[in-house]
Amino acid sequence: MSLDRAYAEALDAADPLARYRERFLLSDPALIYLNGNSLGALPLATLRRMETVYQQEWGTALARSWDHWVDLPARAGDLVGGLIGAAPGQVTVTDNTTVNLYKLATAALDARPGRPVIVTDHDNFPSDRYVLAGLAAQRGAELRMLATDIDEGVHPDLVRAAVDEDTALVSLSHVAYRSGALADMAAITGIVHQAGALMLWDLCHSAGAVPVDLDGCDVDLAVGCTYKYLNAGPGAPAFAYVSARLREVLRQPIWGWFSQRDQFAMGPSYDPAPGMAKFMTGTPSIPGTAAVEEGARLLLEAGVEPMRAKSMRLTAYLIELADAWLVPLGCTVATPRDASRRGGHVSFCHPEAERIVARLAEQGVITDYRTPDRFRFGLPALTTRFTDAWDAAQAARDLIAESFSGERYVSHG
Ligand SMILES: Cc1ncc(COP(=O)(O)O)c(C=O)c1O
Repeated sequence: MSLDRAYAEALDAADPLARYRERFLLSDPALIYLNGNSLGALPLATLRRMETVYQQEWGTALARSWDHWVDLPARAGDLVGGLIGAAPGQVTVTDNTTVNLYKLATAALDARPGRPVIVTDHDNFPSDRYVLAGLAAQRGAELRMLATDIDEGVHPDLVRAAVDEDTALVSLSHVAYRSGALADMAAITGIVHQAGALMLWDLCHSAGAVPVDLDGCDVDLAVGCTYKYLNAGPGAPAFAYVSARLREVLRQPIWGWFSQRDQFAMGPSYDPAPGMAKFMTGTPSIPGTAAVEEGARLLLEAGVEPMRAKSMRLTAYLIELADAWLVPLGCTVATPRDASRRGGHVSFCHPEAERIVARLAEQGVITDYRTPDRFRFGLPALTTRFTDAWDAAQAARDLIAESFSGERYVSHG
């Protein structure tokens, strides 16, 4: 590897996925956008689809469009399922991640009566921890917190030591939102099942970023958002996965009319619909769900494995640049160095992380800050060039050298 920009240009020229960048509206050529792990870019196909959804389906056909809209969450769910190793009929697109987590965690606790313990970890995403804490408080259950290393993520041994015959549910993130550490889904799910508990994975930073094999790992439940690597847009609905083994057995707590069998009979009492419809609540966002369909379709066309291969090369390249340029200035690499143990973003640790992110943004380099002292570079495979990684690393190097590399930071690394 060479530190010259020409090397990055050569990597771009040889990149079989490079042409996918043209499929997105990235209209500012000067912008270096490394924040697709927070909000993905807008696919051009979605722009066209929105024109159809708004002008024809809503504007002209109006309520008649419900004829085909009604199945959209299931259709979009099956496409998302293709990205996360779920056979058709186990994923629906509905609500947001937080609400889906609440529904599926509640269903899991109801399915394990007499087991008063929920397990999660200190570094799980705040919304997940809050929802689980709320559920524990409502039910007088114990929320057992794993003391995860915030850079290394959740190790299977930690889970093994925490689960027992009292455990109803273990709920963890597959890719850690802060460091990007990738948990061992197969091993952890197996450990949880041995204890007789159910496993609920949060795939927000996994879906579209890393290969996921929910069916192959015998996972019970999963949730995830679509506005990051799935590029479905701000506030686009989330997905929920329930294994076919449990789909007809579990019941979720929000008994809305979109989860009712024979919805338009307007019957006197609740009777849950069969299949994944049971895990819906009220009227879904049709534009949002259509955007999920377009985003998932584009990723399926590019292929999960080619995207992963590029993502591993991109993150490795950025880490090599950082070792050469940022580590000597007092940054540390907070993401696992083994590419098979990380997702699609790379996190760095520096005491001035928040100011670094703000100053980079002023220069048109969009990254993000996470407490307490981390800045993240998100590198989605379809929209990120090797030259973007080079330009961003160089901008960070120059900025930190100029403004933030006083004596007191040198010892930090
Ligand atoms: C890992 C993780 N879980 C949950 C959420 C919350 O998702 P939502 O806002 O769709 O409820 C996020 C949001 O970024 C997230 O990154």
